[in-house]
Amino acid sequence: MPKRISKTVAKVGARQRQERSSACRVALIGFGTVGRAVAKILCENGDSSLRLTHICNRNVERKKQPWVPGDVIWTDDVDSVLKSDADIVIELIGGLDPAGQIVRRALEAGKSVVTANKQLIARHGSDLLQLARSHGCQLEFGASVAGGVPVLPALRTGLCGDRLHGIAGILNGTCNYILSRIESARIPFSEALEEAQARGYAEADASEDLDGGDARAKLAILALAGLHVRVAPESVRARTVRAVDAVDFDYAAELGCTIRQISRAILRDETLFAEVGPCLVPIESPFGRVQRNLNLVLTSGQYGGDMAFLGAGAGGDPTAVAVVSDVMFVAQNLSSGAGKREVASYVSTPVISSDFETPWYLRFFVRDQPGIVARLAQIMAAHHLNIDSLLQKPGFDKASLPFVITLEPCRDSSLRPALEEMAGLDFSIRPCLCLPILR
Ligand SMILES: NC(=O)c1ccc[n+]([C@@H]2O[C@H](COP(=O)([O-])OP(=O)(O)OC[C@H]3O[C@@H](n4cnc5c(N)ncnc54)[C@H](OP(=O)(O)O)[C@@H]3O)[C@@H](O)[C@H]2O)c1
Repeated sequence: MPKRISKTVAKVGARQRQERSSACRVALIGFGTVGRAVAKILCENGDSSLRLTHICNRNVERKKQPWVPGDVIWTDDVDSVLKSDADIVIELIGGLDPAGQIVRRALEAGKSVVTANKQLIARHGSDLLQLARSHGCQLEFGASVAGGVPVLPALRTGLCGDRLHGIAGILNGTCNYILSRIESARIPFSEALEEAQARGYAEADASEDLDGGDARAKLAILALAGLHVRVAPESVRARTVRAVDAVDFDYAAELGCTIRQISRAILRDETLFAEVGPCLVPIESPFGRVQRNLNLVLTSGQYGGDMAFLGAGAGGDPTAVAVVSDVMFVAQNLSSGAGKREVASYVSTPVISSDFETPWYLRFFVRDQPGIVARLAQIMAAHHLNIDSLLQKPGFDKASLPFVITLEPCRDSSLRPALEEMAGLDFSIRPCLCLPILR
């Protein structure tokens, strides 16, 4: 090799070594759907300020990939990662245990943590943020809600100057896929669920999605980051989407509406009104237009008004973008010593209520006989509920006849006793489906 070229190569080699030693060291725990996509971005993006040092997964041998640089350590020993000189630990194994232990131990060891773990953050986010603060490190969880949609970073930085009082969203792509498929193809719920499962949009046991557990964990995180309130996910009422029928989309359309699973939280004085469940929303509204497995989050602030965040709420690559963006944010702060994203120190623990006041959609399936409407109207009147409209489409079997009553705005708590009374009526062949109408 000529002398001049060999000197140049030596200089480049020295610079690379210097860059690598000053780079922020990143260890990844969990090499599944998201972990693999994160590793791919970190290995491909050529950002010399970040250096992937470890990939940790149980039974790691089977996970090894040829595109990962040779100096990355593959291990199934979490302890060795936590004892290493990694600056940032990315937790992507999911679940509460052992993920919670790993995140705690990493923070206690002075390492900053990036995670996409909604269950962990929904239950322990406030304590973990406190732990991070007390050890002078950072905890970022931007991918834990709405996957690749940067709503959490927006709440924690771009909107932290506002005083938010409301957050509402389509936070579960599985439910939105199923509901928008029923809407477009008028197929039964069971068929839309099977289709979602076949396409990988729903798990074999989709209960967490369909019954609202997933969305209320995300709502609890949004409420913490945006409304500065601590909410146990279990304290938020969740109504299932399983009872929604194709015929409900016909009746909803007559009212200019469609049906979506909506998660909403409104902070009023010391009370947080919150719930998750299917709602009627105007077809032409932002929620009504969200199709398939997309997510949408709307925020309402005292000064900035309404904001909207729309995009891919799940999937390896979009979620990995959110994770890597958090890693870059943390790395920049570590190198500059600049400010961290804080959840305000004035986090409060409000009373949680699902007693929203809205108009209502009530759908009955009855065995047809004279006097049904009169009997229902009598019960409504006894409970001081005002009927707004009555809808009955022709052409259905008289043994299983669907029809709809809409009510003028009233509180959920005023409606429940009437629903209990109606449930005992002998002509009712299915429980009444009761959905809020969000105008
Ligand atoms: N997938 C998405 O679209 C999405 C969207 C938003 C947020 N998230 C969140 O991102 C996180 C990761 O999700 P994912 O979809 O990537 O899950 P995943 O595909 O199941 O990957 C989890 C990985 O962690 C490994 N693992 C599990 N327990 C472990 C343990 N005790 N020790 C070491 N390794 C362990 C698994 O190994 P095995 O191969 O042996 O199972 C697997 O490789 C979760 O918190 C999830 O809620 C995911």
